[in-house]
Amino acid sequence: MEFAPSNAPAPTRALATEAVHAGREDLVQLGLHAAPIDLSTTYPSYDVEGEAARIDAFASTGGRLDGPPVYARLDNPTTARFETALARLEGTESAVAFASGMAALTAVLLVRASMGLRHVVAVRPLYGCSDHLLDGGLLGTEVTWTDPAGVAAAIRPDTGLVMVESPANPTLSEADIAALAHSCGSVPLLVDNTFATPVLQRPAEQGARLVLHSATKYLGGHGDVMGGVVACDEEFAAALRQVRFATGGVLHPMAGYLLLRGLSTLPVRVRAASATAADLARRLSADPRVARVHYPSVGGAMVSFEVYGTRAT
Ligand SMILES: Cc1ncc(COP(=O)(O)O)c(C=O)c1O
Repeated sequence: MEFAPSNAPAPTRALATEAVHAGREDLVQLGLHAAPIDLSTTYPSYDVEGEAARIDAFASTGGRLDGPPVYARLDNPTTARFETALARLEGTESAVAFASGMAALTAVLLVRASMGLRHVVAVRPLYGCSDHLLDGGLLGTEVTWTDPAGVAAAIRPDTGLVMVESPANPTLSEADIAALAHSCGSVPLLVDNTFATPVLQRPAEQGARLVLHSATKYLGGHGDVMGGVVACDEEFAAALRQVRFATGGVLHPMAGYLLLRGLSTLPVRVRAASATAADLARRLSADPRVARVHYPSVGGAMVSFEVYGTRAT
């Protein structure tokens, strides 16, 4: 049996408060309770040349767009609220949202490939499609699979990224993120934090440069919104915005709204789901048909287990 009872920390007051207020600080002044949803794809233009210059600047730097919005593939005010809130929860400078978790990972790989850094060191297991994206050659990525202890030795001059999922899908294996970050040296470490959420684990505080979520899971929380997001420093965020602008994997503003709303209840949901999952893990471990139960030390809603016998028995 390999599970510890949930030791999920109760969210600090700061985290629970951020979950409700981050990205919505201006609402009181606007006289609103819920965040407005801006569905505009394009906006009135009063200064065509000035606007063209702003678009050019955005395309070449990815810097935050000051002033009124221009076009929805650059940014969107509703989605920006979700990005601000998620960055606050993960303890990073910035966050950049995408149409899905896979679009988010694709953008990270493209940022690094654009610098000639196509080699990735990755720790298995990863979510199946992430594994496929890295391994299948679709983006010209070359991957070295290793375990956490082998990361330092696997890094080459053209390594652009080290990637780990913790807890991992589907085995729920966990990595020592701080130790991994140390092994990475100057190579960015990306931690897929989908299963833990910032309620249970904030990888940036342990040295990860990039924190990725399939927002489709717990951030949304209700099975009705697809999205992805990368929380990181502003320098990497700017590069991600450039890729998002050029390749178009934007999050729809309605999804941005739903994800922002999902964050409000994230700490409460994650704690409740962790308690249920830990109880399930305990019960499974007492079942004589169950060989092993895996439950992450950080807690969370996922439990995996192995049974005796074969599929047929
Ligand atoms: C851990 C993890 N990362 C990434 C993804 C991909 O996210 P999406 O389905 O939002 O593209 C998934 C999807 O199940 C996942 O479980």
